[in-house]
Amino acid sequence: MVDAVKRLIKPQIQALSAYHVPNSDGLIKLDAMENPYSWPEQAEAQWRSVFADPEVNRYPDPSATEVRQALREAMSIADDLDIVLGNGSDEIIQMILMAVNGAAGVLVPTPTFVMYEMIAQFFSIPFYGVPLTEDFELDLPAMLAAVKKHQPDVIFLAYPNNPTGNAFVEADVNAIIKAADGLVVIDEAYAPFTDVSYLETLSQWDNVVVMRTVSKMGLAGLRLGYLVGHPDWIEQFDKVRLPYNINVLTQKAAVIALSHQSDFDEQAMKIRESRQQLMEALSELPINIFPSETNFLLIRMADHEQALSVFDGLKQEGILIKILSRPDTPLVGCLRVTVGSEPENTAFLAAFKRHF
Ligand SMILES: Cc1ncc(COP(=O)(O)O)c(C=O)c1O
Repeated sequence: MVDAVKRLIKPQIQALSAYHVPNSDGLIKLDAMENPYSWPEQAEAQWRSVFADPEVNRYPDPSATEVRQALREAMSIADDLDIVLGNGSDEIIQMILMAVNGAAGVLVPTPTFVMYEMIAQFFSIPFYGVPLTEDFELDLPAMLAAVKKHQPDVIFLAYPNNPTGNAFVEADVNAIIKAADGLVVIDEAYAPFTDVSYLETLSQWDNVVVMRTVSKMGLAGLRLGYLVGHPDWIEQFDKVRLPYNINVLTQKAAVIALSHQSDFDEQAMKIRESRQQLMEALSELPINIFPSETNFLLIRMADHEQALSVFDGLKQEGILIKILSRPDTPLVGCLRVTVGSEPENTAFLAAFKRHF
């Protein structure tokens, strides 16, 4: 390694592995919780008209006012709450952890979305993980004890959780919010696929913000996440947002897409139905399938070796899912499969049964 790199780059960054995205060229892609459907035809026609004058010679609207207004209407966000946008919700996690003091650390239940820990490491923020119970529910006594001990600056609760797929018991989440001295970020990335949410009742909490994304509803390529909360919180996070973080094309596309929200809602309903069908078909096999309020299923095979051989077998047949299994961890034997289109799910099921 070049000497100056060793000297100048933070040790915790040197020790990290970059977030790995496997090559999926030519594969049926069921690894990243994307929506398999393309966007509505009418939206596509409107989008083409944007190219008559895409205005990419100009910087974007720095505060993306139209996008925020479109989100407020489409998601029924109350007038007393504000919204800040990120280049995906990943960037919002970064903005939050850039703005907070950080010394008291970040607390999450584990396993959960990996970017909370990675970004905490970027900023040298202490990170505390409290294991979920065996059925991947919050271990409330352990969470409350950790809250009391560390008094963390930020608690992230993915609701529903990735990679476990379940939405934690609401009373447990409420108990954590009440016990917390710091900020609780409810990450509702999977909102299109569940009926639970903190968005409607958000105004009643002054230490809670709700983070969402348009990625899972069908717009992962746009990179647009949003954070909703009390104006006092949003004002501070907005200060660390880079001025033009939402590009011109994303802003235009998002406004068009959000005017077709009902079509995206229909797609989400279709995915929820397919999730149920996939679950039923898989439940004929002697595997453990966890309940899901998301657009993916978490499956536990007999052991790590079986998970590995099913993952490899599927890949050889052109189907990419996610292997989460690591020996001696709570996810040993686990695979995660995104709910795809009907033909994709059929292909997955047939191949899964062949390699089982
Ligand atoms: C719980 C959770 N939060 C946030 C994200 C990131 O979403 P985005 O595409 O908006 O960066 C993901 C992505 O998989 C996720 O699972």
